[in-house]
Amino acid sequence: MEKDVFSGQFTQAEPLPDAAIAAALRVMQSGQLHRYTAAPGALSDVAALEGEFATYIGARHALAVASGGYALATALRALGVGPGDRVLTNAFTLAPVPGAIAGLGAVPVFVGVTERLVIDLDDLAAKAGAARVLLLSHMRGHIADMDQLMRIADATGLIVIEDCAHTMGARWNGVMSGRHGRIAAYSTQTYKHLNSGEGGLLITDDAALAAKMIVLSGSYMLYDRHGAAPGAAAFEALKYDTPNLSGRMDNLRAAVLRPQLAALDAQCARWNALYRALEAGLAGVAGLTLIARPEAEAYVMSSFQFLLLDWDAAAVADVVARAKARGVELKWFGAPDPAGFTSRYNHWHYAPAAPMPATDRVLAGLLDMRLPLSFSREDCGTIARIIREEVAAAALA
Ligand SMILES: Cc1ncc(COP(=O)(O)O)c(C=O)c1O
Repeated sequence: MEKDVFSGQFTQAEPLPDAAIAAALRVMQSGQLHRYTAAPGALSDVAALEGEFATYIGARHALAVASGGYALATALRALGVGPGDRVLTNAFTLAPVPGAIAGLGAVPVFVGVTERLVIDLDDLAAKAGAARVLLLSHMRGHIADMDQLMRIADATGLIVIEDCAHTMGARWNGVMSGRHGRIAAYSTQTYKHLNSGEGGLLITDDAALAAKMIVLSGSYMLYDRHGAAPGAAAFEALKYDTPNLSGRMDNLRAAVLRPQLAALDAQCARWNALYRALEAGLAGVAGLTLIARPEAEAYVMSSFQFLLLDWDAAAVADVVARAKARGVELKWFGAPDPAGFTSRYNHWHYAPAAPMPATDRVLAGLLDMRLPLSFSREDCGTIARIIREEVAAAALA
């Protein structure tokens, strides 16, 4: 019998909401795309977004910038990370994370991943003395035990930057993701929870760090035109010593983000419904391990992961090929070469690392897929069925 093929597009984002399109038109018709073109005293869309985002997360200060990667580099710079400094980060993350560290001439030191797809806290405790800063990636929306992680950080003097590219709106034990560390960075690139094509956001409660990041982002001396900035005094101490590394957000992006932010929680509930439909469809499949989600973790999933732990590399590659032939795009963190957005710590040769066998075991069996909101729950049922069938077939082959 001919096997069915899933015809949905894993790369297909939803259209922007009408309110975002109307806001974009308003900005384009005004011609005032640069954030500092607003008349003195008037609030630009970027400044308004900063205020709304700070309120949403519950942070004192927020800054909108050009991308998530730029936000990470700015956070590191603001903390004084420079050439030769060692910075702890996840072995399982996306390339822009170690890239932000290496871009400053600093040295990524990788911390392992557990079967729950979070940073290995024993490995973190063992390596904590090796660096002053941890750039912690909540990769693919999986959140480590943040209470325990912060105990380790506090006991060892580690400063934590949270990479919340995949956890905007998520919580650990009731606390918003991004509120544990000194600074948190978010991305509004198309595959994230808010979509402006490119874009990033930073939050902190620390006035000196906020002021520094604002000047670094290219504020010139217009830092009084921000939506969630500290007072002028915070800038006095650093305005002569902080370089302008232009990476501002523009009003067009901010205008399309503001209505999306207002709808973020509702969108995340839709994403989670898709995630749970897939999770239910893949429960009990022999050889396939679902990722445990502790009760303390209120996740906001926009992708789905599962493990084929201790499978042969050839058999995992077979599952990927079989699923692809039926329209289901799985990305494999164990593939020999980096492909598309998917790579892992030992692909980043600019940051050599000693082998990490426990991490290699997890990554060797880790499959990942996007969950665009353009999919329905029925689509998730179809995808789960195809994966079930092809995992079973590959196991027998
Ligand atoms: C985990 C993670 N951190 C940071 C980033 C960087 O975000 P951007 O693409 O906006 O630079 C990404 C982007 O995909 C990411 O997945």
